[in-house]
Amino acid sequence: MVDVESFVEEAKAEISEELGDSTAIIALSGGVDSSTAAALAYEAVGEQLVPVYVDTGLMRKGETEEIEEVFGYMERLRVVDASDRYFEKLDGVTDPEEKRHVIGEQFIREFETVAEEVDADYLVQGTIYPDRIESEGNIKSHHNVGGLPDVVDFDGLIEPLRDLYKDEVREVARHLGLEEIIAERMPFPGPGLAVRVVGEVTPEKVRVAREATAIVEDELEEYDPWQAFAAVLGRATGVKGDNRVHGHVVAVRSVESRDGMTARAQELDWETLQRLQSRITGTVEDCSRVVYDVTHKPPATIEYE
Ligand code: XMP
Repeated sequence: MVDVESFVEEAKAEISEELGDSTAIIALSGGVDSSTAAALAYEAVGEQLVPVYVDTGLMRKGETEEIEEVFGYMERLRVVDASDRYFEKLDGVTDPEEKRHVIGEQFIREFETVAEEVDADYLVQGTIYPDRIESEGNIKSHHNVGGLPDVVDFDGLIEPLRDLYKDEVREVARHLGLEEIIAERMPFPGPGLAVRVVGEVTPEKVRVAREATAIVEDELEEYDPWQAFAAVLGRATGVKGDNRVHGHVVAVRSVESRDGMTARAQELDWETLQRLQSRITGTVEDCSRVVYDVTHKPPATIEYE
């Protein structure tokens, strides 16, 4: 990228020329790439762009509200509450790859419904250069890379960030005033909190993963981890007052990494660990045990499923 200003001007010109009078649609994930692509396309074609955000019910705390706040200025923003449909589809699914498949499929269905409703001709995607070279050879299938263009019969695909690296995308985002997205959050997997629940995904377990993850992100900010979160492992016995309870076991994970391909579990001090367990068991209902994951990648992966 030569300089941000000319990149932005050229990208906008290219988008509006390609689109003409047609309608374009883009899926917002809350990540920096799709957000930047959407902001760029919106500057180029305004109301011809329909940004779609699917609330899968598997998002982090406050994420949907944040999207509504940041992208509310785009007239045609569509926020689809699909959580009931996702949980219904995930009912009884325990295999990790099957979960990803179900989630990916449902996403396509939700997106397709809106694309048909608004009669979208073009698909805008936030694909960046490393996505194009890295989408092969992953250990896990990544549902948010590729796939979409094949499902709806679009006239064309617009990928304004296709030649940029992540740091360049961030520069563009800053230039477009997307400070909230940059000040951003750690990487978050496409299938959301579903890969932080071991076994069947239920609204109850997702609630625990969500509440506990918010605490972990807050408490571990000073350690500047690549990713820090909580996962729900199962149930174990605990005590509450005079009673024995069978509460959720929450695993805290905090890793350092450069690219997610390998990772090291972070060394946290005892005081921090104790604060985490005390806040999590004290405020997350039905959680009676917290463990800290000390495993590097390999042999473990970063996420639990
Ligand atoms: P793992 O768990 O494989 O994760 O060590 C490496 C990085 O990839 C993220 N991740 C995913 N991202 N779809 C995604 O978009 C997925 O299915 C998925 N699985 C893992 C993970 O959060 C970490 O940053």
